[in-house]
Amino acid sequence: MREVLEYIEQNQDRFLEELKDFIRIPSVSAQSAHDGDVQKCATWLKDHLKNLGLQAEIIETKGHPIVRAGGGNRNGQKDPSAKRLIIYGHYDVQPDDPIDQWKSPPFEPEIRDGFLYARGATDDKGQLFCHVKAVEALLQTRGKLPCEVLFLIEGEEESNGDSLAEYIRQQKAELAQNLTGVVISDCSMYDENTPAITYGLRGIVAMEVQVKGPINDVHSGTYGGVVGNPAIALANIIAQCIGTDGRILIPGFYDDVRQLEDFERENYARLNFDDQGLKKELSLNELFGEQDFTTLERAWARPTFEINGIFGGYTGQGNKTIIPATASAKITMRLVADQDPKKIGKLVKDYLESICPDYVELQVTEPSGEKPVLVDVNDPLVRAGMEALQQGFGRDAAYIRCGGSIPVVDTFWQELQKCVLLMGFGLDTDGAHSPNERFRVESFFKGIKTSAYLLDNV
Ligand code: BES
Ligand code: MN
Ligand code: MN
Repeated sequence: MREVLEYIEQNQDRFLEELKDFIRIPSVSAQSAHDGDVQKCATWLKDHLKNLGLQAEIIETKGHPIVRAGGGNRNGQKDPSAKRLIIYGHYDVQPDDPIDQWKSPPFEPEIRDGFLYARGATDDKGQLFCHVKAVEALLQTRGKLPCEVLFLIEGEEESNGDSLAEYIRQQKAELAQNLTGVVISDCSMYDENTPAITYGLRGIVAMEVQVKGPINDVHSGTYGGVVGNPAIALANIIAQCIGTDGRILIPGFYDDVRQLEDFERENYARLNFDDQGLKKELSLNELFGEQDFTTLERAWARPTFEINGIFGGYTGQGNKTIIPATASAKITMRLVADQDPKKIGKLVKDYLESICPDYVELQVTEPSGEKPVLVDVNDPLVRAGMEALQQGFGRDAAYIRCGGSIPVVDTFWQELQKCVLLMGFGLDTDGAHSPNERFRVESFFKGIKTSAYLLDNV
């Protein structure tokens, strides 16, 4: 490995410049104005992987393209017995708003105090690029890879697309050939000194509710006390979904929640999470949530109910005395094993309809969702990952879960039935989805080394 590590160290400045080029393409998948940029970004990535000596192609879909690149040998000869690793990532990014809160423009990457600041820096271009550069280092120094890799990189992760899931289902026989597992870096380390294997992801259910009252906004003096207010009805409905103590009040919601194992509670307790630090970081007086669970337990292994946006009536300057015609809320719930998004979606929809007062009308969109994931930590690939993190970061890795979701992971697991190794190089404080998103430059270099070790260990 010595020459590989030397190659990484000698080329790290160029690697960083290339990552900046990747990041400069504003591949925002949710906004159609950026469709051209998403396409451009896929092409950039495909060309980049091809130049490393891989067989790279763009796979068009009904949504944004998938970039696929594989091989293990510079000459493109296939070794039928070679073990194969799929490396997943996403080249699409979140929108950049609120734009006025960025200290440097979101798509003009800038290095300040050891971090690379830009949209996509940590989620997921920077983390994904660690694997790309590890493959380059191995190919350049040895002429071939220690195992076969297959990059599958999507452009729809941030916008609910299912093109990659569909592709996996279609190609499953071919993808499963010689497969050891799937490697993903699209999550976080435990903290800046503690790399981690993430063995759990939460699932999600999303729906939008609209409460309808009078045919249009009406005078609240003329009709107040006579016509029901949709915004108040909506507030009441929501108040019956979750208590001020964080307990979800929807009957049956917790039925399938798998309890934490004792060893998990012990492990999390040993991580000694700093509640005070989090309060300070987010400028909060108190944290929130179910009493009988610690912060890490609530964030990783308990389901949630959230309003992501609530709107209706007059929100402009000054007063406007009306009873609004409608009020709406966007709701998402994070799920944990063994909750099923379809079952929970129906349960919640039925409950909302059952508690809606008669003086308004309720419309709920069809719930959509993704399953939670729990990985078997005894798989040899997880052990190889642990070792690689130790080698790359010089520290023992922790076993953690992640409160977020990566929709396609469940499809990888269900269709290919092989271990999914989640090893994040980001930090929760990197500001993914927020203004001033960043990626620690040191993590980028250590991530490249870790990935090189991993391919070697496998
Ligand atoms: N990389 C994130 C997942 C993630 C979130 C990892 C938090 C670590 C911490 C991913 O890109 C993401 O944002 N997922 C979405 C999926 C959703 C839109 C279905 C999420 O979790 O909200
Ligand atoms: Mn991501
Ligand atoms: Mn994301």
